[in-house]
Amino acid sequence: MTPPDIEPSCRACGSSRLRLGFDLGLLPLANSFLSVQNSEVQAPESRYPLRIFYCDNCRLIQLSDIVDRREMFDDYAFLTATADTSLVHFDKYADQLTRKLALSAEDLVVDIGSNDGTLLKAFKKRGTGVLGIEPARNIATRAEAEGIPTINEYFGSESVARIGRNKARVVTANNVVSHVGDLNGFVESVSELLDAKGLFAFEVPWVVDVLRHYNFDIVYHEHLSYFGFKPLSQVFERYGLELVGIEHFPAIHGGTIRGLAAHLDAFPKQQDMLDQTFGAEEKEADFRALERFANHAKEFRSELVALLRRLKKDGKKIVGYGAPAKATILLNYCSIDRSILDFVIDTTPFKQGKFIPGVRIPIMHPDEFRKAKPDYALLLAWNFKDEILEKEREFLQSGGKFIVPFPEPEVVG
Ligand code: TMP
Ligand code: ZN
Repeated sequence: MTPPDIEPSCRACGSSRLRLGFDLGLLPLANSFLSVQNSEVQAPESRYPLRIFYCDNCRLIQLSDIVDRREMFDDYAFLTATADTSLVHFDKYADQLTRKLALSAEDLVVDIGSNDGTLLKAFKKRGTGVLGIEPARNIATRAEAEGIPTINEYFGSESVARIGRNKARVVTANNVVSHVGDLNGFVESVSELLDAKGLFAFEVPWVVDVLRHYNFDIVYHEHLSYFGFKPLSQVFERYGLELVGIEHFPAIHGGTIRGLAAHLDAFPKQQDMLDQTFGAEEKEADFRALERFANHAKEFRSELVALLRRLKKDGKKIVGYGAPAKATILLNYCSIDRSILDFVIDTTPFKQGKFIPGVRIPIMHPDEFRKAKPDYALLLAWNFKDEILEKEREFLQSGGKFIVPFPEPEVVG
């Protein structure tokens, strides 16, 4: 374990006026699933402080304990294409941008943090040039094998030097900007890569949704920033970019916001939507909201653990459904281990046979769910609630129940 660096100033504006709003304690890395075969299973895994700060100057909510990114991303467990909801979302995303900019084969779309190439495949299908940039070697190799040209590195000025300035008609970055430590350097490089008439489209969990729905489990070491668009737009302006449009997707990852940015005066601005977004952030993402969020997480923990213990006492069999990164945070923060959940199932092949970090609950193939016939399933992949409840109709019809954790722990079925 490399001890985390403490970043004493705000990632967006450089101010040192950072206030601690929520200390979740020492937690393991959310995506560091443990192998069964590996001796790691016996040795205690690394835990790192997870603390959320609020910048009194620009209002960016952020972590200041920075874990070495190589420990988190060089080998990565998250694949975009594991849920149908995501495939549909990214297909529509490509469709919208292709039409908006009338993209053709001469236009290059660069996706930063391109993962398994899901979004670029959707662009390629529509005839544009595509290029992925993905630091995780295991995932970059996979995308490349499926026909998506992928540079295996962390995006930055070297990527721009390799590709060329003003080259990309579209730059996309989905669930990436929140992971970036050097936010200013990142935005500067995007600005250099982007064609004068190009669009930068990016998706992040919106801080207002995170706080509104009390989704403390999306707080993990990878997510360094919890963006409002106000602090972010100030960083854009520093590098000659401006926000021109915003779209809100309440059902994606519990509340995602897509921003569109461009070089100054290149595109008309959706001023109404920008004003509305900034207004909501001012009201709902201040320091008091962060304190409420922290208090709610503590109450949530008592409530969920009491419910699960009561069910166990009544002899019920409970398993976990889905092993997303956020399951590591929820289970560890609430100290829910194998004495409560027999196992967790997940459709991702390389998670199966491994253990959730910290609480060390085994992750099994979904067939085990059907074989075990549990009474209750704790829905850890709650962001796919509709998709999963639909898929598991038989479980529900035969008397099985889901425990949906957010906004309040609720038994469904
Ligand atoms: P995410 O919330 O970070 O996107 O991850 C979702 C996880 O849930 C991923 O590991 C796949 C898993 N999953 C299932 O196991 N079954 C399902 O039906 C769905 C939709 C997801
Ligand atoms: Zn700041």
